[in-house]
Amino acid sequence: MSSPAQAGGCPVRPSPGVVPLSGPRFHTDPQHLYNEMRREHGAVVPVELPGDVPAWLVIGYREMHQVTNSPELFPRDVSLWNQWGNIPADWPLLPMVGSPRPSIYFTAGAEHLRHVAMVEPALEAVDPFEMRRICEELSDRLIDRFCGRGTADLVADFAEQLPVLVLAWLMGFSDEDGADLAWTMKVMADGGADAQAAQLRFMQHMQNLLAMKRAVPGDDVVSRMIAYPDSFTDDEYVQDLMAITAAGHLPTCDWLGNSLRLMLTDDRFAAALGGGRRSVGQAMNEVLWEDSPNAILAGRWASRDTRLGDKTIRAGDMLLLGLGPANTDPHVRQHVSDLAHSGNSAHFAFSHGEYRCPFPAQQLAEIIARTGIEVLLDRLPDLDLAVPAQNLMRRPSPFLCGMTSLPVVFTPVRAVGGFQ
Ligand code: HEM
Repeated sequence: MSSPAQAGGCPVRPSPGVVPLSGPRFHTDPQHLYNEMRREHGAVVPVELPGDVPAWLVIGYREMHQVTNSPELFPRDVSLWNQWGNIPADWPLLPMVGSPRPSIYFTAGAEHLRHVAMVEPALEAVDPFEMRRICEELSDRLIDRFCGRGTADLVADFAEQLPVLVLAWLMGFSDEDGADLAWTMKVMADGGADAQAAQLRFMQHMQNLLAMKRAVPGDDVVSRMIAYPDSFTDDEYVQDLMAITAAGHLPTCDWLGNSLRLMLTDDRFAAALGGGRRSVGQAMNEVLWEDSPNAILAGRWASRDTRLGDKTIRAGDMLLLGLGPANTDPHVRQHVSDLAHSGNSAHFAFSHGEYRCPFPAQQLAEIIARTGIEVLLDRLPDLDLAVPAQNLMRRPSPFLCGMTSLPVVFTPVRAVGGFQ
């Protein structure tokens, strides 16, 4: 299939030397685009975000290691940004870049480690067997809603719903509030007119949950965070709960959705669709290498002038982490052609270093995505794409690498839980 760009549509550069970080090629033809960038700029690319905002995009595997392994030189500290004076309050990428606030995601140095020390053990204490049981139950409930139809959109009907429902359970929300949280996350992610109201409701959910768990603690993540001996303000707890949910939801949706897409479009995974389990894990690992849910992530900010690759980085410059392109850097991939298929997990899908996705969060995400896929394949064994593979659309964003929909057909089956 020829992309609009290949057909002569989207130029890589509007002004010499700087690559605009927008345009359809980021979702229609990303690999060729990154290869062009590598040829013209090397491992560290000068880019321009909408509104002429400059940044560096790191696409080299080695350089990504250097950045993520140097938390003092390159902290995830948005307050250092030397562009704050040029950023209007309604800049569309502000929610993605973030602003300074007291959460695990937006603090740096000792303050960040203080939050990590409270959040990580609370996630680590989740019982994986209980979690797997809940994921099965919630997957069955979602599948019951569409299994009698014979058609579904696996993004809207399944992948976009399961992670937030499981996260809501982990935190100790009631079923009813969990369903409302799922709706709230969807409205926020869609970014329409109701997105700001949804964000307010998201925060209120967390405030209510905190008050409830203070009054009646349970065996859940929030109660364990409150029980942690170091003291945090209510605002810090609420900000951390929002960070955990927001950081966990979308990438897990996309990991699940991209793995299903790979299995439905690539003959190597036909056995999995017929009931073989081993290749579910292979497909999921391949997605982390080739189709990383966070293709580009903001970011890191240089704490002083320095060199990276062959570029001079100034104090306060923003570095965007090209997690997707670094994974496919030919300098590492040409020697080990089947990294993605061998169970090797030295990819950057979860980032790396002090600010990486916490290990227990990675394990929880794996349980959610794997259980969701396995239950789906058990319940609907003749699942097939309802449209030609080349018609599947990716999210129109350079940053997130997920599908907008995944239409499928299957032989209708009865609901197992009487839940419609
Ligand atoms: C249960 C699901 C998940 C939870 C609860 C979760 C939670 C988190 C949290 C709390 C952070 C902030 C870490 C810190 O500042 O120390 C984080 C960061 C991150 N997570 Fe996750 N996550 C989940 C799933 C995923 C998945 C599936 C991916 C991708 C495949 C992912 C990729 C990342 C990345 C790239 C970062 C940013 C790290 C950086 O800035 O270097 N996460 N996650």
